[in-house]
Amino acid sequence: SLFRAAQEARGRAYAPYSRFMVGAAVLADDGRIFPGVNVENASYPLSVCAERSAVQRAVSDGAQKLVAVAVRGPGESPTWPCGGCRQVLYEFGPEMIVTSVGDSGNREERPLADLLPDAFRGPATAAT
Ligand code: THU
Repeated sequence: SLFRAAQEARGRAYAPYSRFMVGAAVLADDGRIFPGVNVENASYPLSVCAERSAVQRAVSDGAQKLVAVAVRGPGESPTWPCGGCRQVLYEFGPEMIVTSVGDSGNREERPLADLLPDAFRGPATAAT
């Protein structure tokens, strides 16, 4: 159902500039699912990735512990979260599982910790 949410969301992506439509869905520890899409802007750098949209939505609704994220991008091969999104996902689920699926339906799954080794945990922990 996480994949279904990502897939459904993808149809609502706003990507007129890149045409690269992405849907994502995060799963909270209480079972709630929050979808997100990439939301681009005429001022390109203001665009937001689908994964980050989903995280914003989860946290806005009070879910701060995330256990998984599904990503559905275009094309044959799975789309993995960009580096910035990995860091944002890590904030709310350092142990989360990241899954992605391409057109051919081949799912791949990796721990976020593998996609973002030695993640930055903030100045407070670095100082101790
Ligand atoms: N994008 C995502 O939404 N998620 C990803 O995992 C990769 C990239 C978006 C950002 C931009 O709107 C478009 O895809 C092309 O980079």
